[in-house]
Amino acid sequence: MVASDTPPLQIDPLRLEKALAKGGAAPPPRIDLLERVDSTNRWLLARRQDKYPFRGRICLAEHQSAGRGRRGRGWVDLPGGSILFSMGWVFNHPSELSGLSLVVGVALKRALEESGIDGVELKWPNDLLHRGQKVAGILVEIDNDNERCSVVIGIGINVMLDKRGGMEIDQPWTDLSTISGRVIDRTAVAARLSTHLLRALEQFEQQGFSPFQIEWEEADLLRGQRVEVTGGTHPIRGVASGVSEEGSLKLQLDDGTRYRCLAGEVSVRKS
Ligand code: BTN
Repeated sequence: MVASDTPPLQIDPLRLEKALAKGGAAPPPRIDLLERVDSTNRWLLARRQDKYPFRGRICLAEHQSAGRGRRGRGWVDLPGGSILFSMGWVFNHPSELSGLSLVVGVALKRALEESGIDGVELKWPNDLLHRGQKVAGILVEIDNDNERCSVVIGIGINVMLDKRGGMEIDQPWTDLSTISGRVIDRTAVAARLSTHLLRALEQFEQQGFSPFQIEWEEADLLRGQRVEVTGGTHPIRGVASGVSEEGSLKLQLDDGTRYRCLAGEVSVRKS
C-alpha cells in the first residue's frame, strides 16, 4: 500500500518530451507544464492561434484553481495529486467530431492498462470508473473559428487524492494509487496517455469511430443496465445496449423500440 504521506513524484517535462519522441510522435508536440493555472483547457484554447502548431499541443498543470468539468461542473484536484492534461486538435468540420470523446476514453484506458491499471470501465459518454468509482473524466471543448474547428481535449485523472481533498467531489471516486497500491509515476502515465491519444486521434481523423467501437463496447459499464438519460427536452428510459458506429448510446426503450442518444447524462435506474 502507499502511505498517505508519500509525496507524489513530480511530472518531469524533459522525460515526457523524450518519451513522446521515442513513442514516434513526429514532429514532437509543444508541451507546457504549468505549476498552477485556472484551467488547462481554457489556457490551451486561448493559445490556438499562437506560433506553435495547435494539433497535438499539450498543456499539463500541477494544480487548477478553476478546473472545468462536464455540464458546467468543476473538477477538483490536490496540487501534485492528479494528472491535469489538455491536448489541442483541429478538425475540418464539426460533423467529424462524432464519437471523439469515446475515442479519447479508449486511448486513456489503453494508457492506464499499459501503466498496470486494469479493470477500468467506460461509462458513456466519457467517464472512466473502477468498481463503480470515478477515476478519470474527459471534457472536450470546441471552438469553431473560421471554417475549421479547434478542439481541446481535457483529461483529469485522480492519481493520489486524500479524503480531505476528495470531500468536495460529488460522487464516489477513487485514484490510481488506491487501485494499484503503489506510488504512481505521473510522467510515465502522462507520456503513455500522450502517445496513445496522438495515435488514436490520427486514426479517428482517417476512419472515424468505427475501428474503436468493439474495444469501447468491451469496457462498457452500462451495457444491459436499465438507465435514464437526461439533458434533452425530456428524460429517456431504457436498457443500454452498446454504442453505434458514430458513438451514440443505443437504448432499447421500455415499449420495445430502439433509440440512439447523441448526448446526455446517464444514470442507472434502481428498479
Ligand atoms: C468531467 O466532468 O468528468 C470532465 C473533467 C475534465 C477535467 C479536466 S482536468 C484537465 C482539463 N482542464 C479542465 O479545466 N478540465 C479538464
